[in-house]
Amino acid sequence: MSQTRPAAVVVLAAGAGTRMKSRTPKVLHRIGGRSLLGHVLTAARGLEPERLAVVVRHERDLVAAHALEVDDAVVLVDQDEVPGTGRAVQCALTALDLAAQAEPNGNSGRRHAADVLAGSVLVTAGDTPLLDAGTLGELVHAHEADGNAVTILTTTVEKPQGYGRILREGGAVVGVVEERDATDEQRAIREINTSTYVFDAAVLRDALGQIGQDNDQGEVYLTDVVALAHEAGLPVRAVSVEDSWLVEGVNDRVQLSVLGAELNRRVLEDWMREGVTVVDPATTWVDVTVELAPDVTLLPGTQLHGRTVVGEGATVGPDTTLTDVRVGPGATVIRTHGSGAEIGEDAAVGPFTYVRPGTRLGPEGKIGAFYETKNVQVGRGSKLSHLGYAGDAVIGEHTNIGCGNITANYDGEHKHPTVIGSHVRTSSATVFVAPVEIGDGAYTGAGAIIREDVPPGALSVPDHGQRTMPGWVSRRRPESASAEAAAQALDTSQPTDGPGTTDEEDTQR
Ligand code: UD1
Ligand code: CA
Repeated sequence: MSQTRPAAVVVLAAGAGTRMKSRTPKVLHRIGGRSLLGHVLTAARGLEPERLAVVVRHERDLVAAHALEVDDAVVLVDQDEVPGTGRAVQCALTALDLAAQAEPNGNSGRRHAADVLAGSVLVTAGDTPLLDAGTLGELVHAHEADGNAVTILTTTVEKPQGYGRILREGGAVVGVVEERDATDEQRAIREINTSTYVFDAAVLRDALGQIGQDNDQGEVYLTDVVALAHEAGLPVRAVSVEDSWLVEGVNDRVQLSVLGAELNRRVLEDWMREGVTVVDPATTWVDVTVELAPDVTLLPGTQLHGRTVVGEGATVGPDTTLTDVRVGPGATVIRTHGSGAEIGEDAAVGPFTYVRPGTRLGPEGKIGAFYETKNVQVGRGSKLSHLGYAGDAVIGEHTNIGCGNITANYDGEHKHPTVIGSHVRTSSATVFVAPVEIGDGAYTGAGAIIREDVPPGALSVPDHGQRTMPGWVSRRRPESASAEAAAQALDTSQPTDGPGTTDEEDTQR
């Protein structure tokens, strides 16, 4: 592939996208973990253009902010009230010319002394998410190698409805006609305009100055540049892509889901070729930003989002959703919902585990069934095996946290830390009332409520004993099923008044 750098790329993103029927601008809808515009900007940046412009108007502030978030070097261009793709490009050219003038003695050698943009300008639409830098690069290369004035990217489809059709005479491209302006004969043409072109900047500037709004929509059509350049005797050629998916646009939510599924299918296929096992591609969704190592296994119902990275030999799933999670080599993550977390090498998570941001599970550690963790550091080989909550805690190495342990980290106003050492053994239902610290090698007894620090090697057990009030149920819940069962068990129909119980104690519910 050629490494020719175009003078500018212009991404059109000013349209309303009414067919989406959404409050969210069309180009901000997402597939594969990126907005449609994000996909296009990523591909465009791959060409290393000297300038990358985004034309905005509809929901201007939202789209502009998003574009800058994706790529802080984009040039934002505001389209005025005149509608149409041609007008959008004209506004971009004006802005790029101003930018060229502002730059002292263009350092690229591409600009004329007149200080306007010169060279190749690639124009593409913000709603064509599968277009990749490779395809765009080939288009620029063909344009420059052939010395074209206009090079239009086309494809041939079964159902050309809704697209502009490519008009040819004796093989040569002579124009583009929009569906609504086309004759029946023209509508039968299956070669369509993908809305991606490379223009010579001077030809484009000149042609846009001549285009009116004389069409069914009353818009300035960029497509009219093609016929104008042809009529002026300039070289206009088409480059056709075989793989129509690459140039498919999103106009409504049906296309959004179809393209989302196709993108996912391609992402999974790429990973499978890199040595990842995907047991069920139909129920596995992986964002384009995720990284997977060889011999990773993804079980059915797995979704990996954002900056998730999975190490060699790890197994994720079934039924697991991870967003921005690092999974270490050899780890297993089963039926888990996780975000912003790190899971160490050979560690185990799940099933039915909620791993929240700031969780860092050490190598060979475990966070087991029905556990919720948040902002917790768990050292090598330590285990939180079943039923509990750990928040704002640091746990040492080879510590075993018993069933049903809870960090009471929130006093209603502030969060407090729990620090637990190495080789600690806590018994079932221990509650850590933070801030509190448990020393290395300490133990706790079942039901312990730890309010004060436990020194290393100590055993801390609840000292409130057990108070039993015989007959409480038959007095306070008379005629209940429990009272009846108790009565049968006690083999008597009379309530039992045992010692050590007063009515006063019973009054609290
Ligand atoms: C356009 C092409 C059509 C092509 C199709 C491919 C024209 C006249 N038609 O039609 O030949 O087959 O794309 O998908 O160009 N936009 C602006 N400003 C505007 C209007 C649109 O920036 O005033 C942007 C939109 O945000 C969008 C892109 O241009 O990203 C294309 O606009 P859209 O309305 O989707 O054009 P189509 O009718 O699909
Ligand atoms: Ca479109």
